[in-house]
Amino acid sequence: MKLFEPLEIRNLRLESRLVAAPLASASCTPEGVPTERTLEAGRKALFARPGLVVLEHHAVHPWGRVRVRQLMLDRDDVTEGHRPLAGLFAEAGVPVVVQLNHGGSGVADPDLFGDPAFRMVAPSPVPHPGRDPGRIPEPLSEGQIRELPGFFVQAARRAREAGYRGVQVHGCHGYLLGQFLSPLTNRRTDRYGGDVRGRSRLLLDVVDAVRGAFPDLPLGVRLGAADSFPGEEPRGLRVEEACAVARELAALGADWIAVSGNLCGYDAPGGFGPYAGAIREAVGKRIPVECTGGVTSYDRARELLDRGCCDLVGVGRLLLSDPAAAAAWRRDEA
Ligand SMILES: Cc1cc2nc3c(=O)[nH]c(=O)nc-3n(C[C@H](O)[C@H](O)[C@H](O)COP(=O)(O)O)c2cc1C
Repeated sequence: MKLFEPLEIRNLRLESRLVAAPLASASCTPEGVPTERTLEAGRKALFARPGLVVLEHHAVHPWGRVRVRQLMLDRDDVTEGHRPLAGLFAEAGVPVVVQLNHGGSGVADPDLFGDPAFRMVAPSPVPHPGRDPGRIPEPLSEGQIRELPGFFVQAARRAREAGYRGVQVHGCHGYLLGQFLSPLTNRRTDRYGGDVRGRSRLLLDVVDAVRGAFPDLPLGVRLGAADSFPGEEPRGLRVEEACAVARELAALGADWIAVSGNLCGYDAPGGFGPYAGAIREAVGKRIPVECTGGVTSYDRARELLDRGCCDLVGVGRLLLSDPAAAAAWRRDEA
């Protein structure tokens, strides 16, 4: 399979299988809208002319922030401020989707605790394994959990109104939906915990709600395939469980699944090819699967496609650090 070959995702036509992966830029205004610096990162990502751009995570609720300077789609008065960024991609003719997130206990910036309105919530009162072990999050009540899909729906509506072409639900890297997926952070005994059916219920409810509200909206999921890297001793969320979740996501109408790690994060030695391949098999190749992480050469991108690990290759840091190198991949394929 070639890298510079088109692919349709719902009503989007991607000119290639190269995806600009989301990279949080901490560049927004205090209100959570893009600045000229955010636009500059967007221009860099466009330099290699990816087939699709996935914009960094945007908080769907004020408690869903992971930094004080966090892009937000949590209220109607920020929508207007997103139009220039959406317009940048429209002008370039490159489809752009925006990633929607609730950070839960994955708070990366302790300054957030200085905001008296902020509350760090999670499925269970378990410290986040990658953060300050002294910070115990507040467990969400069932009533609070039932409100969460609505926050994603409203954020998706604002994304559409701002001119973004679709959304990606952030279900990896140990943020709230990933905290629910993992038995290491989800100790609940109600319908949102226990086996993988219970632990994935919130993610599935979110996707079902967004799909139900917007039947035509390109809707992706970034799925944490496991809490351990490929080849490591499995712990926590296992890839077999993620495969079962992926099948459910496809059945609910998710348009593509972008594979990364969950509590283990995104920097897998050797990449996530084996996990992406397992998930691609699990969904019966009915929807495209993306693999991201550690791709810094055209040969590596082609290897992932040729081995059948994925249909789309995500590239993050290289597009910003050396956009000319990635732009030259087109020549490599010619
Ligand atoms: C500074 C930085 C910010 C990131 N922000 C996000 C983000 O907002 N959402 C997300 O899903 N992944 C995020 N990631 C992970 C990247 O999308 C990607 O998976 C990771 O960088 C590995 O790909 P690469 O080796 O091509 O850079 C971030 C990574 C970095 C280094």
